[in-house]
Amino acid sequence: MNKNAQFPIARPRRLRQSEALRAMVRETELNASDFIYPLFVRHGSGRTPIVSMPGVDQLSVDEAVREVETAAKLGIPAVILFGLPAEKDPIGLENFAENGIVQQAIRAIKREIPEMVVATDVCLCEYTDHGHCGILNTGEHFQASFPESYVLNDPSLDILGKVAISHAECGADIVAPSGMMDGMVSAIRSALDAAKFENLPIMSYAVKYASGFYGPFRDAADGAPKFGDRKSHQMDPANVNEALREAALDVGEGADMLMVKPALAYLDIIRTVKNAFPEFPMAAYNVSGEYAMVKAAAANNWIDEEKVTLETLLSMKRAGADLIITYHAKDAAKWLK
Ligand code: PBG
Repeated sequence: MNKNAQFPIARPRRLRQSEALRAMVRETELNASDFIYPLFVRHGSGRTPIVSMPGVDQLSVDEAVREVETAAKLGIPAVILFGLPAEKDPIGLENFAENGIVQQAIRAIKREIPEMVVATDVCLCEYTDHGHCGILNTGEHFQASFPESYVLNDPSLDILGKVAISHAECGADIVAPSGMMDGMVSAIRSALDAAKFENLPIMSYAVKYASGFYGPFRDAADGAPKFGDRKSHQMDPANVNEALREAALDVGEGADMLMVKPALAYLDIIRTVKNAFPEFPMAAYNVSGEYAMVKAAAANNWIDEEKVTLETLLSMKRAGADLIITYHAKDAAKWLK
């Protein structure tokens, strides 16, 4: 039996009469301090607009510094960097080069805005000429049991360790492996520890789906696979139990923070993972396709961009995310002021 009063004694509308009352009983809060702002850095000068992501540009190092200054003024505490290398090759050498684009950007940002938390994406796909997130089954690592197009797991881990150390040496505050390789967190943890970076946190893209929502990002970061797809490592959108397994493995390997990606079509996953691992800070990645959909509809005046953006970001917090990686970070921070 329901012990609560029923209508007409109960009237939920009593608490919705004024903004003051609504604010008193509000359960979830969205703040600029929840946001991690993604930046795409490239060689050269100036900015290149990303057509499928209006308002987001590929940035030179000095423009990235300017963008971080703006974000800091708006109260955004963190950025995550993605790099576009000058040249691509089968293993992605610029990914761990001392003067790679991300390495330059980390140093410049930490020099000019030391209080900004700089996270870096650790993956191979933007750096490899084939566009895959690990090295392929050719050359010295060839394994006869796999096709040539297979992304090899263990040989890719060595590279991820090198990339993480390289970012750490430049002053990165968080490394975020995104390639869904098995064992990537423990490989990066032991590489960092061996290089005396035992205090550098790992934010693992623990639960990352093979999603259609990454489309615009692949223009932005020029990281589309040249053939095939990412289904041999990213998760099947049909699965939720497997998300718990992935998160548990990463926790066991020493992840400091977890991530679910994408966010909007995966709010149930965010809630499930948060309930299972409440002691771990969790980020939701509000990905490029989610951003592009809102921008396209808003450009047609079919939706109110501010309302819809704040509502979707709030939904991610309500689902259990502590942090949100979002291209809308600057706008949302302004709207929340
Ligand atoms: C790299 C990476 C991707 C995204 C973040 N890191 C692309 C992919 O996995 O294909 C997507 C982010 C977005 O769509 O906004 N592995």
